[in-house]
Amino acid sequence: MKVGIVGWRGMVGSVLMQRMQEEGDFATGIEPVFFSTSQAGQPAPMNAGTLKSADDMAELKKLDVILTCQGGDYTKAVHPELRRQGWNGYWIDAASTLRMEPEAVIVLDPVNRNVIDSALAKGQKDFIGGNCTVSLMLMGLGGLFRAGLVEWLTSMTYQAASGAGAPNMRELLAQKGALHDSVAHLLKDPSSAILEIDRKVTATMRSDALPKKEFGYPLAGSVLPWIDKEVEDGQSREEWKGFAETNKILGTTAPIPVDGICVRVGAMRCHSQALTIKLNKDVPLADIEQLIANDNQWAKLVPNTKADTLAQLTPAAVSGTLTVPVGRVRKMRMGPHYLQAFTCGDQLLWGAAEPLRRMLRILVE
Ligand code: HSE
Repeated sequence: MKVGIVGWRGMVGSVLMQRMQEEGDFATGIEPVFFSTSQAGQPAPMNAGTLKSADDMAELKKLDVILTCQGGDYTKAVHPELRRQGWNGYWIDAASTLRMEPEAVIVLDPVNRNVIDSALAKGQKDFIGGNCTVSLMLMGLGGLFRAGLVEWLTSMTYQAASGAGAPNMRELLAQKGALHDSVAHLLKDPSSAILEIDRKVTATMRSDALPKKEFGYPLAGSVLPWIDKEVEDGQSREEWKGFAETNKILGTTAPIPVDGICVRVGAMRCHSQALTIKLNKDVPLADIEQLIANDNQWAKLVPNTKADTLAQLTPAAVSGTLTVPVGRVRKMRMGPHYLQAFTCGDQLLWGAAEPLRRMLRILVE
């Protein structure tokens, strides 16, 4: 299979390339063709000839598969034109542009391999990675959905800077550095007054000394309870995706209500979520734990103890790994049908690159 790879140099693309190399994906009968929006003609990685231009329709049309992490604007410009010109290959995409199109499938194969297989059998060709928050929630809690136990779910998120982009990760660190710099001399003195330190930090946070070109607001030392633009009725687009994409991924016929508040926090690349789940029957906690733990090889049940939680259920523990820990699992005061849980996952791996490389593997198998 001739596989065109577009956007391989960006953050998600780089994670994707690394994972494909780690998993030996390039040795599975695919012939990679690398594309570039700016450096066509230069040598391609992995000795794969030269870079082709990412808007060269003639080159793109020769491909069996196009795998793109180039972003939504590229998808908008190129995908409809290729289809209009009769190209009938597989389009695998990280961007959200095509996700909710009726002929597109949102891919998360450990959760919805059945939906993917039936789409392939029907001849569907557009396979799109899901929103990171939704994918990570389903990797952790898929077992409960699969067992048909979820009446509704709310997710209160703690989303990392990486979800906003590579420049935002840099800016978060620059903000943290600026805050520290503003009181470094006072911190060295153990007898300095904490309220003076705090006053200076807050003044820096509110001043132009804090870099905030990307986020627009201070994130270091603060939280930003709005992600993406407003959709309607005071709901953000990130929150809107929770309901729309969860149900599309699962292929539900009676949609399951999913809603909550999406919040940006000062983590680097792991999104965390606090979940409240209304069960449609009173299932014993031990059974629920088994369903979570046994659903897929990446979901990991973390015992609900302080030591296990703080050691295993944090961005610090999870970053750069494929493990999706689920912990703080317990029945709530509201009654035996109400379950709480907390989960955390790497937004660049299961939240972005991993479902795409696995979709390619499904095609070549
Ligand atoms: N929209 C997500 C975020 C990342 O802002 O964190 C991509 O799914």
